[in-house]
Amino acid sequence: MVLPRADGQVAACIDALREVYEADAYPVRWPVDPAGWLSPDDAMQSWVAVSAGRVLGHAVIRRATPPMPVVERMDPALGSPVMVSRLFTIPAARQNGVARRLLDEIAGWAVEHGHQLFLDVADNAPGARRFYERLGWKHVFSEYADWLDADGSPARVHYYLPG
Ligand SMILES: CC(C)(COP(=O)(O)OP(=O)(O)OC[C@H]1O[C@@H](n2cnc3c(N)ncnc32)[C@H](O)[C@@H]1OP(=O)(O)O)[C@@H](O)C(=O)NCCC(=O)NCCS
Repeated sequence: MVLPRADGQVAACIDALREVYEADAYPVRWPVDPAGWLSPDDAMQSWVAVSAGRVLGHAVIRRATPPMPVVERMDPALGSPVMVSRLFTIPAARQNGVARRLLDEIAGWAVEHGHQLFLDVADNAPGARRFYERLGWKHVFSEYADWLDADGSPARVHYYLPG
């Protein structure tokens, strides 16, 4: 079941994020303030996927402006851009439609609120890229990010729009 995230679920989301970090190095570095990382200042809405009281997955929508080459590929009539972020499924619950259901919920929310979605994926997350492409998202642009990969090199990020 996908639900808006409640304040009381943040601790369980941090536990879930820890599992994801240890399995996938997502995020690249364990955040100093994991609760803050899960609730960025520009967050508009957060969701959790839960089953039997356990957090299986998580996602956030953020108010964000994509780079110009991405803006140019968007149709202004579809609404102002918002970014899918902080999306993850715990390893034990993968390949079972958890992240798909989170994105379906987010897509409905975006239409309802007059927004259109975009997202970026780091170069070190090829599985996530395959996941988005499986769901029909289209790669439209890549650039170097303003943060570093684990090896200290500039991170490369890939931007996607819904198919
Ligand atoms: C990427 C991630 C969110 C996918 O979560 P998930 O709950 O396993 O995904 P789903 O089960 O909803 O998958 C939906 C479809 O994508 C496919 N898929 C999922 N992960 C995939 C992968 N790594 N490679 C290829 N296809 C994948 C599934 O097989 C499924 O296909 P189907 O249409 O045949 O059913 C999860 O692997 C994860 O949390 N990764 C680490 C964190 C991360 O990288 N987050 C993204 C940050 S941008």
